[in-house]
Amino acid sequence: MRLAWRFLLPLGLVLALLAWATSPLLGDLIGRWLRKDVELRSQLVFYSVQDAVIRLAKEDPLGLRLDTLFERITRDERLLAVGLCAPDGRLLNHTPNWPLALGCPPVPPPLAPSAAPPAPRYDIEYLGDDNLLIASFSLAEEGRDLGRLLILHDLSFIERRSADLERYLMIFLGLLGVLVAALTAVVARLTLKGWVRQVRQSLASAGSGAIPDPASDPEIAALVREARDALRELELPRGLADAIRVDWTPESLRHLLRSELPEAQVIVVSNREPYIHVRGEDGRIHVQHPASGLVTALEPVLRACGGTWIAHGSGDADADMVDRRDHVRVPPEAPSYELRRVWLSEVEQEGYYYGLANEGLWPLCHIVFVRPTFRAEDWYQYVAVNRKFAEAVVAEAQSPDPVILVQDYHFALLPRLVRERLPAATIITFWHIPWPNPEVFGICPWREEILRGLLGSTILGFHTQFHCLNFLDSVDRFLECRIDREHSTATTGGQVTLVKPYPISIAWPPTALAGQPSVAECRAQVRAAHGLAPDALLAVGVERFDYTKGIADRFRAIETLLERHPEWLGRLTLLQIAAPSRSSLASYRHTQEEAKAMAEAINRRFARDDWRPILLVPRHHEPAEVFTLFRAADLCLVSSLHDGMNLVAKEFVAARDDEDGVLVLSAFAGVSRELLEALIVNPYDSRAMAEAIHRGLRLPPEQRRERMRLMRSLVSEHNVYFWAARMLLTASRLRKRARIQTRIEEVARPFGLGWRREVGR
Ligand code: F6P
Repeated sequence: MRLAWRFLLPLGLVLALLAWATSPLLGDLIGRWLRKDVELRSQLVFYSVQDAVIRLAKEDPLGLRLDTLFERITRDERLLAVGLCAPDGRLLNHTPNWPLALGCPPVPPPLAPSAAPPAPRYDIEYLGDDNLLIASFSLAEEGRDLGRLLILHDLSFIERRSADLERYLMIFLGLLGVLVAALTAVVARLTLKGWVRQVRQSLASAGSGAIPDPASDPEIAALVREARDALRELELPRGLADAIRVDWTPESLRHLLRSELPEAQVIVVSNREPYIHVRGEDGRIHVQHPASGLVTALEPVLRACGGTWIAHGSGDADADMVDRRDHVRVPPEAPSYELRRVWLSEVEQEGYYYGLANEGLWPLCHIVFVRPTFRAEDWYQYVAVNRKFAEAVVAEAQSPDPVILVQDYHFALLPRLVRERLPAATIITFWHIPWPNPEVFGICPWREEILRGLLGSTILGFHTQFHCLNFLDSVDRFLECRIDREHSTATTGGQVTLVKPYPISIAWPPTALAGQPSVAECRAQVRAAHGLAPDALLAVGVERFDYTKGIADRFRAIETLLERHPEWLGRLTLLQIAAPSRSSLASYRHTQEEAKAMAEAINRRFARDDWRPILLVPRHHEPAEVFTLFRAADLCLVSSLHDGMNLVAKEFVAARDDEDGVLVLSAFAGVSRELLEALIVNPYDSRAMAEAIHRGLRLPPEQRRERMRLMRSLVSEHNVYFWAARMLLTASRLRKRARIQTRIEEVARPFGLGWRREVGR
């Protein structure tokens, strides 16, 4: 319809203008034609009655028969009256409606004498605003002047006919215009539809190299080729990241940002902040680094890229360290980015963090047989806090299209909330924990809201392909949504979300490695600090004290090991450090108490002199302490019952620059898809885990070295800069593609052609 108006209106106006401009000329032309026609008709009448008039004028001096003849002549409706003038100019006869005032026109001067009999003369005169015509014909017989026959015509019909003609002409031109416009619109629409379809196909199949047959339409083929070349150029960075081996470092990530996303402002949003200011017992403020895989991964990225990190200010001295805008520059030792703290009330924390996030979504996604709890009050707080953080994002945005990195299950609603306020933003959401299958996810009372919230993202990342598929299946099950499994996208309400696996990682080389003593010194230090013999074998476990980490299962495996292989009695110790976490929740308190009780029971059962098989240290350790521990260990145990990635495994490998040490790793942690050289176990099977530990302790040094070398090479290559680079490159590609699509939309819009976005902003 819009298209029709766009074509019809201007074309109709042009034709009306044309008709208006040309109609007076045309009217004039038609007037002249009709007058000429009347003149010719007068002559015709004269020639047909000439003889009769002469005869009757001679035979009928009273003119009675002439009257009858004249009356017959004037039956023609446009022939008003007829009159007969004598040679001396007197009006002899006339029809009754002859205007007497007219009399006889003046006698024309005589013609020069000639040999040939003179042709009858006639004169034309127009009267009354050209509405009357008098044709005057001379009557002669054998050279004798007999007077003149006058014929009076009514010309008013000419004006009427011209007006009619003008009107018909206008209507005709108008109809013609409509027809031509409609035809043009149909042809243009069909042509452009074909053009847009082909360009769209080329955009979609840029990778496959398929373009339309140039023979069928060379012009479109050329256009499509150009578009394809542009897209190929856009594909290049992705190829670079995936195919070319780049040593990803803070510098190469910075370079990538500058070249691929120039001017883009980076904003990170997470619940946990990277630096917590706490007040010590001595009243002094010091900085704590939280035990958080998310922080371990994101912090080096922000150091490299700069930007703003928005997080909950959870430290008791946090408020003392911020400026008027709640900003503090970090890292404290060498500030390179802004930390924006958001304050939460007790009620908000209870509902949003402890309630919905950690008693609802955490057990829901981790399937470790802890029942998720969903309370409406928690949901209200979750919604409110997501809104609060979305406001903070909008307030921090310095342009309409920042790159926003949303972290984790605390902010499932935030991507859509931000999208509504900043439609051009590139929103990359990363879900750090597993995503369950639709049956499990379906028990969440707010499943649709959560899915819709996440689908506000441009890119949604998980650690593994398996979790991506679970997410797409959940969307498929619970939302009206178009899912493209080939390209791994979900489209709802015109927003396309790319759902991809991006296995997270750690900085390489890790910052905590700097300044570490040699491995021999670490071994000696740690053993001395925990009262172990210098040659004691040491297994380590490093976690947040969380039921998903399988700490009790690990203890059970040690017990089974000692039962089945008593040769390790008195020789092997498991040093388990566990940072207290979410301890106000009953499920966590229970886990922690259970683990402590189990450690005590096993220790009681197997203790010898001052040797204990399990040392449980439930306190927070700073990253450097953790690294010293890793370096001192013979074996590291990661027995998560379910884990998105688990960066402890990668940190252990990174800490071992001596290329020694054994990793026993749960098959249910995402990291087991990458660290294939670890000894992979099922943590629910204590016997199998005990055997893996037994095997690990007996692995020949060359085998340990070979395995560790391979794992280190993977983590060093697929480090956290690589993780960020892949997402940012995809984001840059999508931004460029969105720009091309916007251009095509601009071209297609005036023709009323809809354009379905293939990839979100
Ligand atoms: O594993 C999920 C996660 O959010 C991590 O990203 C992070 O390491 C951990 O949980 C932190 O938990 P919290 O912030 O509740 O202490």
